[in-house]
Amino acid sequence: MSENKFKRYTVTTALPYANGPVHIGHLAGVYVPADIYVRYLRSQGRDVIFIGGSDEHGVPITIKARKEGVTPQDVVDKYHKIIKESFEEFGISFDIYSRTSNKIHHETASEFFLKLYHDGKFIEQTSQQFFDSQENMFLADRYITGTCPHCKYEKAYGDQCEQCGTSLNATELINPKSAVSGNIPILKETKHWFLPLENYESWIKEWIIDGHKNNWRPNVYGQVKSWIDSGLQARAVTRDLSWGVKVPLENAEGKVLYVWFDAPIGYISATKELTPNWEKYWKSNDTKLVHFIGKDNIVFHCIIFPAMLKAEGSYILPENVPANEFLNLEGDKISTSRNWAVWLHEYLIDFPNKQDVLRYVLTANAPETKDNDFTWKDFQQRNNSELVAILGNFVNRTLVLTDKYFDNVVPQRNSLSDFDKEVLESINNFPEKIANQIENYHFREALKEFMNLARLGNKYLADTEPWKVIKTDEKRVQTIMNISLQIVGNLTVLGDCFLPFTMQKLREMIGLEQLSWKNGGSVDLLKSGHKINPSSLLFEQIDDEEIGKQVQRLLDTKKINEMENHKAAPEKESISYEEFAKMDIRTGTILEAEKVAKTTKLLRLKIDTGIDQRTVVSGIAEYFSPEEIIGKQVSILVNLAPRKLRGIESQGMILMAQDADGKLVFVSPQINTSNGSEIK
Ligand code: 2FM
Ligand code: ZN
Repeated sequence: MSENKFKRYTVTTALPYANGPVHIGHLAGVYVPADIYVRYLRSQGRDVIFIGGSDEHGVPITIKARKEGVTPQDVVDKYHKIIKESFEEFGISFDIYSRTSNKIHHETASEFFLKLYHDGKFIEQTSQQFFDSQENMFLADRYITGTCPHCKYEKAYGDQCEQCGTSLNATELINPKSAVSGNIPILKETKHWFLPLENYESWIKEWIIDGHKNNWRPNVYGQVKSWIDSGLQARAVTRDLSWGVKVPLENAEGKVLYVWFDAPIGYISATKELTPNWEKYWKSNDTKLVHFIGKDNIVFHCIIFPAMLKAEGSYILPENVPANEFLNLEGDKISTSRNWAVWLHEYLIDFPNKQDVLRYVLTANAPETKDNDFTWKDFQQRNNSELVAILGNFVNRTLVLTDKYFDNVVPQRNSLSDFDKEVLESINNFPEKIANQIENYHFREALKEFMNLARLGNKYLADTEPWKVIKTDEKRVQTIMNISLQIVGNLTVLGDCFLPFTMQKLREMIGLEQLSWKNGGSVDLLKSGHKINPSSLLFEQIDDEEIGKQVQRLLDTKKINEMENHKAAPEKESISYEEFAKMDIRTGTILEAEKVAKTTKLLRLKIDTGIDQRTVVSGIAEYFSPEEIIGKQVSILVNLAPRKLRGIESQGMILMAQDADGKLVFVSPQINTSNGSEIK
């Protein structure tokens, strides 16, 4: 299908669940690439709508509400606001950011369901589902936990094991338990409506395998293909729950639409809310529908939602689904429950006005083809060596020199050297190079090309050396600064989609309005005689201390998690009281400590046990220096049979425990006691 076939664009972004704030993984995976794409299309003058919103249904929200003793509506009200604000703060330029608890969404989703129902597209099936008799409720998906039949993980959910990633049916779990009451659930009959995906199998194959093999990303195509190859089955589109879009049928009390049935319809409801002309964005073949999502949503957007749209009959289908892989954080999977994330609202507290730095780093390191890792060191490095040293440096040098030599007035271009001509010509090629990458959803490459324009600027200044030439040839410097300023002007046009805040600031500095993409490549963006404004730095260095703080915060989180997840070793065989009573444990004080020569682990200690002063050899040298433990009170087993270690007789043993990091710590009396006091 040729590009020009499309007159308008509907760009959607996965609706995040409104049960927690959003983090860098969300931005990198979905919202920043989508925003770059949309800003670029707008700059091209195309008709585009950019749709977002909160996914406010689903079991995790009801579980959170229960835990916090509030209503599900309270939960989604709280997080919808936080999420919406975060997106605004990061410049995600939605035309609408809606929510699925809206009336218009409930109506739209109900109508959609009813159309399929009346057209006979569903099958009704009665099946056995887990039921919590104490709570008098059916237990959907995440309301059941148990042991995964595949990897034996004990906290698998009724729909998925988060350890091995297998998607499960609740009835497959070993030792299922109700997550609400902790009780063992019973199986009870219930009726649901199913979309028989198998009926759409041959159509989906043709649409995707024949139609999109070459224009969808390999990771997306591959996942979809393997789903199709393993055979499609009927999927329930309703659930026994009280929170969600009520099933609009009689005798369907206590039933709602499955969250994955109603959520993607949310894109349509949001469009309806945005414009009375919504139909042309959803029902017209010359509209290009693009879904930006993370890889965990591929099946829903590439198989199930398209099957729903096809079953309904009047909608267009996605032309592309540029799903990203995952972004990890410092080598570990981002996780809300383990608080292993960089939360957007927290980032802005520590790095106010540095939205573009994060946008830049997440794009430069975007997980487009494979999972990638966000590290604070890389963040610092990209800020300091790329944004500051390449982009910021070029712009700053150009503006400072223009001020110094020409009092902030754009000088004219005089006769051109071959190098000048070469540079002017290559400026002209940038818009197309960047556009090609963006149109193909290669945002990392697009950003790289953009930075190459700044690199070109730096090279131009370095090679032409206006600061030397000014002493002898002012006319030549006029030309050099004019050309450099044209590069700066082009940066504002071509960089606006990536770094909107910075480019706005830069436009204000050079007194240039926001221009459309077609002005990119022009070498007359800043006319000679045009007065530019005083400049300031676009980016600042980020120092080790700031980065160290962030790293420390993550280390603290890790420690807390390890402490919470620490599994005690199983209890040892029991002993009699008499056996216990044989152990003579006393408090003592370390009088002397020194390293045992030629060992890394051993310290030779002299201890006042209250009974005597004796030598103990202890394997704690890796954790303590001799100086720091002298004078410390410890617990010592004094009647342990002496034994020789490295030729030294050790007369007893100091009692130690392990802290969260596996480091040994003394088991000492809480308050100073007299040496020799018995521990019983
Ligand atoms: O995975 C998620 O966060 C879902 N809430 C995404 C829904 S996308 C769409 F279907 F609304
Ligand atoms: Zn598992």
